[in-house]
Amino acid sequence: MTEAQRGGRDLILRGRTLSFVDDPFSVGADNAVRHEWDGAVLIRDGAIDAVGPANDIIARAPDVPVESHGDKLLMAGFIDCHAHYPQTSVIASYGTQLLEWLETYTFPAENRFSDPDVARSAAETFLDECIRNGTTTACVYGTVHEGSADAFFEAAAARNMRMAGGKVAMDRHAPEFLVDTAQSAYDASKALIGRWHGKGRAHYAITPRFAPTSTPEQLEALGALWREVPDVLVQTHLSENTNEIAWVRELFPECPDYLGVYEKFGLLGPGAIFGHAIHLEPREIGVLRDSGSGIAHCPTSNTFIGSGLFDMAGLRDNAAPLPVGLATDVGGGSSFSMFSTMRTAYEIAQLRGYALHPAKAYWLATVGSAEVMRLDDRIGNLTPGRDADIIALDLRSTPVIAQRVATAESLWEELFAQMILADDRAVSAVYIAGNRVA
Ligand code: GUN
Ligand code: ZN
Repeated sequence: MTEAQRGGRDLILRGRTLSFVDDPFSVGADNAVRHEWDGAVLIRDGAIDAVGPANDIIARAPDVPVESHGDKLLMAGFIDCHAHYPQTSVIASYGTQLLEWLETYTFPAENRFSDPDVARSAAETFLDECIRNGTTTACVYGTVHEGSADAFFEAAAARNMRMAGGKVAMDRHAPEFLVDTAQSAYDASKALIGRWHGKGRAHYAITPRFAPTSTPEQLEALGALWREVPDVLVQTHLSENTNEIAWVRELFPECPDYLGVYEKFGLLGPGAIFGHAIHLEPREIGVLRDSGSGIAHCPTSNTFIGSGLFDMAGLRDNAAPLPVGLATDVGGGSSFSMFSTMRTAYEIAQLRGYALHPAKAYWLATVGSAEVMRLDDRIGNLTPGRDADIIALDLRSTPVIAQRVATAESLWEELFAQMILADDRAVSAVYIAGNRVA
């Protein structure tokens, strides 16, 4: 890490530890995980230096102070790979599905972000809520206003959080106070990349909202920008709602399907993150896979705004899995908590006849999201070399959870109870680059 990113003093965290050594979708739960009952994490310079049995780690660094978390579970902070910070104020808005929800609630709320004070305060609220919920990294949409991205990155830098984000680009089919142009979206995104990408812990994401709100010229310009700066991310929405899909077919009749629009403009590949991806055609699945693009599964949003049931088994639990991460999609999503997000992912999978094992759910909420953000070498796992973005979880945070885990016979039963029942009360400590922030 650079000087600016460094955590403070060296530190050992002691507690139960959970790390992934492999992908549970490929090798099964027990082969994928390393769990220590009395484990420790050695943090040096804001990064994880070693993880193992507490006695070994303490013997290895006898001068480093130890912070004990008792029987709390130490694991990597959660990663939310698709959220809209300006929509925090419209979370829990009643009675609409996607296109009407955007018109009724979202666009008016996003209009307020022309005011930098609104953006600053919303960014701070969003990031503090992430921390309270144990989410240490997210991939975040701003609004069409360039200043919305500046406000977000400033607030993330003040908290030293590894955060990705971008200014939304949309130059049609939105209220006139919320549209940019092909050129201004390109210019503003490029300027933001120059100001923020790779500075401290910031990552830029080129952010065309979704195909219906961008002209072909704008998508072309953003595809060109990605070719110029290929190490930034791209984020957008894909096949969330059936009316949306029908609209895309009308707007882009020359494209074979919804994904074909992004394909046409060079917006597929590793580091491109497609939110939702519920109603995919077989061709789209093949192209997503072949291009190495990632999917952000947004379960609480998909149920809350009635979009549909994501096919986890078909997309991830097979011989040729696609990169998938887990996401809140706040404010279409109904919770900041990755516990609620995992619970709803489980429930959606159940409705499709598939039981999402807790090892897979926690993997999706950490390593999976890090992979789609191309940050899996830096975050998302309690392993040496990763940033020390670490949470401690109280596995008995409420009387009902305590009662439930009292009879648990395995780690998985305990972790499953958390993903079904827990909320922010289970997050007993949060470390950002080795510094305790909650
Ligand atoms: N599709 C285009 N914009 C949005 C948005 O803000 N939220 C969701 N859930 N879907 C979208
Ligand atoms: Zn979204």
